[in-house]
Amino acid sequence: MDRIPTHVAIIMDGNGRWAKMRGLSRNVGHRVGAESVRDVIRVSLELGIKYLTLFAFSTENWNRPEEEVRGLMHLLKGLLQNEVEFIYREGISIRVIGRLGRLPGDVLKVVKKAMELTEDNSKLYLYLAISYGGRAEIVDAVNRIISEGRREIDEESFRKYLYAPEAPDPDLLIRTAGEKRISNFLLWQLAYTELYFTDTLWPDFRRDEFIEAIEDYSRRIRRFGRVVEE
Ligand code: FPP
Repeated sequence: MDRIPTHVAIIMDGNGRWAKMRGLSRNVGHRVGAESVRDVIRVSLELGIKYLTLFAFSTENWNRPEEEVRGLMHLLKGLLQNEVEFIYREGISIRVIGRLGRLPGDVLKVVKKAMELTEDNSKLYLYLAISYGGRAEIVDAVNRIISEGRREIDEESFRKYLYAPEAPDPDLLIRTAGEKRISNFLLWQLAYTELYFTDTLWPDFRRDEFIEAIEDYSRRIRRFGRVVEE
């Protein structure tokens, strides 16, 4: 491939539909979706993608049925607990963006532990967006700016108040399951990002599908390059 994106962001959509089509509970869909997360992480390591941001839970997702919210929290906690050794050994650094104050205490504890253990790793920065909303992130930034008493701001200094100022903007956004929306994800950061939509439901979005998305991105950049060179 000509050009590997530095930062890939993903809206992992369609777990519920995948489960419903099979007469299974939505939480089973999320569990199978976690397998796709594993595939995407492995391929990212192989291709040398440096930043991967996954939309795991939005601020709006708190409004889902209690059982599903509980199931998702349980899944997140379990995955972080069980996979943290692998994540550490592979050189992955886990970081979390979102309003973490709303997370149940036990989940927050596991999240913090995973971040601390892996904070010096640098092969792949894995950002989990949990209890995340793009507008909330911007509002949180503005409130911090106000509390510091600043009177004026520009784009570069504004960026420093975002949840992950150290991460470059995503080069590629992938959304699965046919919806063509941003859904309040990384509103500031997606300004120039290439968008890739696929009908594939997240639990079916495995290794080959991810590589196809990266290849598609690579071709787009190559065309753009030719025009510039002329
Ligand atoms: C959207 O599908 C998916 C979610 C709300 C949860 C995504 C979470 C995981 C895959 C768990 C593992 C994650 C990490 C990062 C450890 P949906 O339920 O909105 O599907 P639908 O639109 O078909 O109902």
